[in-house]
Amino acid sequence: MSTWHPLSFRDRPIAQGVSYPDQAKLETTLTRLRQLPPLVTSWEVERLKAHLADAAKGERFVLQGGDCAETLQDCQPELISVKMKILLQMSLVLVHSTMKPVVRIGRMAGQYAKPRSQKWEVRSTTDGDVTLPNYFGDLVNRSGFDAASRAFDPTLMLTGYQHASMTLNFVRSLMDGGFADLHHPEQWDLSFFGNAVLSDALRAEYQRTTDDLSRALRFMEALGELSVDELSRVEFYTCHEGLNLHYESAQTHKVPRREGHYLLTTHMPWIGERTRQLDHAHIEFFRGIANPIGVKLGPTATVEDVVGLCDALNPKEEPGKLVLITRMGVDKVKTCLPPLLQSVRKTGRRVLWVVDPMHGNTRTASSGFKTRSFDDIQREIAWTLDAHADAGTILGGVHFEMTGEDVTECTGGAAGITDDDLSLNYATACDPRLNYRQALEMAFLLSRRMRADQAKA
Ligand code: PEP
Ligand code: CO
Repeated sequence: MSTWHPLSFRDRPIAQGVSYPDQAKLETTLTRLRQLPPLVTSWEVERLKAHLADAAKGERFVLQGGDCAETLQDCQPELISVKMKILLQMSLVLVHSTMKPVVRIGRMAGQYAKPRSQKWEVRSTTDGDVTLPNYFGDLVNRSGFDAASRAFDPTLMLTGYQHASMTLNFVRSLMDGGFADLHHPEQWDLSFFGNAVLSDALRAEYQRTTDDLSRALRFMEALGELSVDELSRVEFYTCHEGLNLHYESAQTHKVPRREGHYLLTTHMPWIGERTRQLDHAHIEFFRGIANPIGVKLGPTATVEDVVGLCDALNPKEEPGKLVLITRMGVDKVKTCLPPLLQSVRKTGRRVLWVVDPMHGNTRTASSGFKTRSFDDIQREIAWTLDAHADAGTILGGVHFEMTGEDVTECTGGAAGITDDDLSLNYATACDPRLNYRQALEMAFLLSRRMRADQAKA
């Protein structure tokens, strides 16, 4: 294998590559980006890796989630705090059922670059059809449908980095005590408990979980001041898709007193379903960094692909290093997932398995909106858990696209959102997200299933 360095990916073919027309402007931007202070530190990255190693053994559970595409406009205190709030509340519901610490990883502070199935977008206008480059996220170009907005602009990497930094700065303040009250279910919006779609048995069970949680928290607080202080401090990590390798490589550095290179734009980057070709640029870049790395695996992933990814990204079999995020879709999960689980188990590889029940379940509603059904999402999780139980492997986490806001992008759930409701508040910059109540309800359902599994074990 050739020698790795932060720019060695440039010699490889690339899928979803971002090529800038003005090379000089690109290099000036990258020079500046390289000089800026990092967003995360190597010790945080190593701490997360240790947590992920625990999750791979079933000793922790990972909750990864956030927007499909974060936008620069989303960098606002209310929007950031509602995202944190839903992640925190879901994590408490999961702690309650698993009795394990939950590792929270937000698709935040840099989830600005999106792979697209179509390179170009065509729209009919009064002047006939207009074709422009597709929107690849705010780190690459802008969403407005005009030539200037859609041009690939390297300076957006600097703007994106600054917004990621402001977002993370606020996240860190909130983590350091700003969330004390939000631990308490009394502060949550549990109005969906009252919806007619929910059966009496489920309603009673959710209420019991909530009451248990309230009592446990009050008990912890009553133990003494240290507990209150500890409780109000929240550990939180960031992740994003490492799509734009120019951006990622500019903040990839050696750090004092540690081996290797660290990517310092985020704690845990992931490689998307469309960019995981073994001989291509993304694998070349990510094989050289010390961070834990996620890889999305869709229904076309073969056993050879998965073994190849383990060899390339984690040749030393470091615990907590490789996170395989399966996103098969409800129609394919029963056939496509088991062979992958069995082959990895047979080779004895150490990986952390996570399920993304969102990306294989996207459909177009009768009203024309891109959507996902709550039931499909829930069934993919359930069937993924079944497949792990059969294969003797461990599902160590879940990955959702969700938001703390009251949007109407996914159908179903106790909220009873129908295809016709989607137009009410369809706000995503890319894929449909679970709204606040759907996300919380999903956590209750997952929690219920995991508790039932534990009772069986
Ligand atoms: C995503 O997570 O937003 C995404 C594009 O996922 P995938 O690569 O699995 O399609
Ligand atoms: Co998405």
